[in-house]
Amino acid sequence: MRILGISGSLRADSHNTALLRAAAELLPPGVELELYEGLREIPPYDQDEDDAGQHTPAVLALRQAIEQADAVLISTPEYNHSIPGVLKNALDWVSRPVATSVLRNKPAAVVGASTSLFGAIWAQAEVRKVLAAIGADVVDRELPVMQAQAQFDEYGNLVADDLRGQLAEHVNALVEATRDRNGAPTPA
Ligand SMILES: Cc1cc2nc3c(=O)[nH]c(=O)nc-3n(C[C@H](O)[C@H](O)[C@H](O)COP(=O)(O)O)c2cc1C
Repeated sequence: MRILGISGSLRADSHNTALLRAAAELLPPGVELELYEGLREIPPYDQDEDDAGQHTPAVLALRQAIEQADAVLISTPEYNHSIPGVLKNALDWVSRPVATSVLRNKPAAVVGASTSLFGAIWAQAEVRKVLAAIGADVVDRELPVMQAQAQFDEYGNLVADDLRGQLAEHVNALVEATRDRNGAPTPA
């Protein structure tokens, strides 16, 4: 099973990208996580271009990456209590046509890290809302990583055992939802 990890941050030392890297270390056997790294190249959404099928290589690559993944895990920062514009913009590009969006019926889960005491809960809720609007099969749970600057060591590993456990449970819920959807048996 392949999960595509999408970080909503372009920052080199992003806590959200680190969270996805930590998730990649906690996957059950037979599951791998590929980190999507093309967010910076996605152009501003333009419905004229979209309707005309004028999609840049970056947009096509994102669509293909989602299409080829069994599931999607998004880690979102929170900007002004909401979704970072670059992430929302990318989701808009892959949302059309509604009936055939690559996210339609795609199992998806959301986590988030912020430096405040709230752990990007509003941004996570809004990403789940957007994914549901697009028709993704959204795992109904959140993982708020608060005061993110204190949660990772110098190598980007999660310091706290309980947070590692919560992240493993979160990813497992996505893996189970994907297995249920694909009708695959859970390995003993
Ligand atoms: C423009 C901007 C707006 C922000 N707004 C919020 C906010 O509403 N809530 C919050 O918890 N943190 C907010 N922050 C702090 C981010 O949580 C923090 O910068 C975080 O590290 C960003 O994620 P990253 O490390 O993955 O880049 C904001 C940061 C920026 C740059």
